[in-house]
Amino acid sequence: MDRQAIAVMASGRGTNLAAILEAANNGKCPVDVRVVISNKVDAPALRIARNAGVATVLFLDPKDYKDRTAYDKACAEIIQNAGCQWIVLAGYMRIISSFFVNHFLNRIINIHPALLPAFVGADGVSDALAYGVKVSGCTVHLVNEEVDGGDILSQAVVPVLNHDNRDTLHQRIQQEEYKLYPQTLTRMIEEGFSIEGRRVIWNESE
Ligand code: GRF
Repeated sequence: MDRQAIAVMASGRGTNLAAILEAANNGKCPVDVRVVISNKVDAPALRIARNAGVATVLFLDPKDYKDRTAYDKACAEIIQNAGCQWIVLAGYMRIISSFFVNHFLNRIINIHPALLPAFVGADGVSDALAYGVKVSGCTVHLVNEEVDGGDILSQAVVPVLNHDNRDTLHQRIQQEEYKLYPQTLTRMIEEGFSIEGRRVIWNESE
């Protein structure tokens, strides 16, 4: 199976980006990370991408664009010119426009640090902890116009322990993210899927 070019959009530490780059390097995930875009000038994700030799690594400053759509059009042009087939959001802390969602319909994926549809939003880890759930985890999902509301591709479960705080729980969830995100990308490329209602049906040969 040929590698598929992907773009990663990240605002923060970029540890999921690093996990995807590592899986790609080790031949465990058939992707070529061709573009990394960040909306934060100091995002460590940019350094990770440059060190890994990603061809196009860009900070695009939202202040340079008149609105969200203009910003997302600039991103879309870069992503398309590079021939990317999937857009992978990895800690991208910015709401994307309906232009972007529809332009790349069912080709944008995100990872969320909770078991959706529970605990959507910016701090799903704290919200799950505060609610008192005994298991949480992470979810890889297609991106639609609703925040964390797209169809679910995969999930991994992480137990919540008595002594957990936000950081310890998030760290254990992230260990699962580093496996789940590359695995899900691999499955998307090698196996493919169809959508029935809200259900993602993998094209596994049974
Ligand atoms: C992850 O926990 C992910 O689930 C959430 O943002 C965090 C990004 O972490 N969307 P990193 O920047 O990949 O380290």
